[in-house]
Amino acid sequence: MTDHDAPDDHSQQTLTGESDDVDPLFAGVDEDGPFGSQLIKNQNLLEVGMVPDEDRIVGRDDEIETFAGYLRPIVANGAPTPVLVYGKTGTGKSLVSQHVSGRARNAAERRGRTIAVAYIDCSQHSTEAQAVCALARDLNSKAGSPERIPLKGLGRSHYYTYVWELLETHFDGAITILDEIDRLQPDDEGNRDNILMQLSRARESGKTTKPIGIVGISNKIDWGEELNQRVRSSLGNEELIFPPYDANQLREIMYAREDAFYDGVLEESVIPRAAALAAREHGDARKAIRILKNAGLIAENRGDEMVRETHLDAAQKRAEADRLTELLSTQTAHAKNVLLALALLTEQNDENEFRTTEVFSVYQEVCEHEGDDPLKLDRVRDLLDEQAFLDITEAYLTGGGRGQGTFKVHRLLKDPEVVRNCVNSTYGQDGEISGF
Ligand SMILES: Nc1ncnc2c1ncn2[C@@H]1O[C@H](COP(=O)(O)OP(=O)(O)OP(=O)(O)O)[C@@H](O)[C@H]1O
Ligand SMILES: [Mg+2]
Repeated sequence: MTDHDAPDDHSQQTLTGESDDVDPLFAGVDEDGPFGSQLIKNQNLLEVGMVPDEDRIVGRDDEIETFAGYLRPIVANGAPTPVLVYGKTGTGKSLVSQHVSGRARNAAERRGRTIAVAYIDCSQHSTEAQAVCALARDLNSKAGSPERIPLKGLGRSHYYTYVWELLETHFDGAITILDEIDRLQPDDEGNRDNILMQLSRARESGKTTKPIGIVGISNKIDWGEELNQRVRSSLGNEELIFPPYDANQLREIMYAREDAFYDGVLEESVIPRAAALAAREHGDARKAIRILKNAGLIAENRGDEMVRETHLDAAQKRAEADRLTELLSTQTAHAKNVLLALALLTEQNDENEFRTTEVFSVYQEVCEHEGDDPLKLDRVRDLLDEQAFLDITEAYLTGGGRGQGTFKVHRLLKDPEVVRNCVNSTYGQDGEISGF
């Protein structure tokens, strides 16, 4: 008998589960649930990067239908209509574009036609050469070609040549999805849309005989306006706008993934509340799913038997804190003092809107406590404007009643407790501030 299979072999006993000498760090791993989870049965369903199956895509029927209409000709060798997709973050643009393109490819395949769907994230490949290189490499790998296309070292025209050749040799057409297209950098002549030009005119300029579908995605609603007139005329003007989800749609999106959790472990009000929270914050599905997942993880970590609203609130606070910490990391101590002043006013008042002078007065107290020399009122006004620009606060002009003219009021959009924790100051925490 070798040392390896000796009966007291530590690893063997642990693997068969016969020993209770289990490393607690890795305890509870079983084959059914990920990581021996008690509440979450299938965490993949709660990962935001996941492209869900058809029956889990909810609330975008009209957009899917319209989108399919643009792509439909490619199924039968016609030229698809180029389309620019706009909408705020988390409104399903990338998801729907990939979903419908995939269905077009499958429909073509059933007719014996091979269509490539190429997806290029222009935030990762932000020069024209990088974007065409990514396109060529994607087509190359989909063609199963043994040829290696170098990542660097070739000019953009070489990469285009690869694209046209691959199309001619291996495919009956292609759908190119250019995601985050507004992130494309201008070239030396200041053109940011050359790739659109090349793809949209490829057939008429004799580069390829195969139809190419073009899908450009952006969350800047006016991005298309910036396009060069020639590109706009070859692209056409088809635009598809994805509105933010409302609370009902977010609820349905989450219900369609309820089976990520074990039966009966989600308190009934959790999904509706997660939907309401995300609807309030710009109707972002990614955010809704992330809060739901984090609520589940928090409940599990606490060893609770159900996911409840309290876990959701904790998840929401954590998400807000992460975001705010990120935003605050680049701000000055004075900006933080201004925010703390607004947070303290909000916490210790029945109202939630405050005039610049009110914020300024508490800001001065905060500075004194922190040992910082306070800035002048005008600078504080600028700092408040910056906070509004970052969506940390909201500001608007309001009337002060007869003879008083208008003035600006500020409202904190984040949880004041979260702000206090992120700013990391103890001022005002255990009692009333004196500034009002
Ligand atoms: N209609 C939907 N049904 C189901 N899940 C959805 C839906 N819309 C979005 N999601 C989920 O939210 C995630 C984010 O959606 P998507 O990536 O399409 O957003 P986006 O509009 O491209 O946002 P961004 O501008 O930030 O790139 C998706 O991966 C998916 O999990
Ligand atoms: Mg996207």
